[in-house]
Amino acid sequence: MLGKKIENAINKQINAEFWSAYLYLSMSAYFESINLGGFASWMRVQAQEEVGHAMRFYNHVVERRGRVTVSAITAPSINWKSPLSAFEDAFKHEQKVTGMIDNLVTMATAEKDYATANMLQWFIDEQVEEELSTNTVVQKLKMIGTNTGGLYMLDCELSQRKVK
Ligand code: FEO
Repeated sequence: MLGKKIENAINKQINAEFWSAYLYLSMSAYFESINLGGFASWMRVQAQEEVGHAMRFYNHVVERRGRVTVSAITAPSINWKSPLSAFEDAFKHEQKVTGMIDNLVTMATAEKDYATANMLQWFIDEQVEEELSTNTVVQKLKMIGTNTGGLYMLDCELSQRKVK
């Protein structure tokens, strides 16, 4: 059985994960609007992964006989000044999510909810990957600078990303 404090915190995290999906979908639409289809595709896959994250939390609440309560998802930004600024925002966002996951681990451990703490281990590993993948693109974009050939090549590379 899930304690109320953990249940509330996970319900907030479900909302945050769906918000992440919405953010990346918005970034995908931005990349489509500037004709970077590979970047757009990468962000579309990222959005799908975020829905997967939300559903992992959802399933945990259901399996522990808790109550999922969905709440309103606020609108993310819809425009960025450059591909670099979009990916810098994505990296910043992932660092923020890592902090949220860490706080959940702290809470679950303090509440002696070891099943939740154990479930969260997957997210700890996932956040290492999420920060790495967004920051890698940030670094490549910085290297490319204003070189359109480089941007074209990175667009081709990012188009290869598949759903895990
Ligand atoms: Fe659900 Fe990108 O962390």
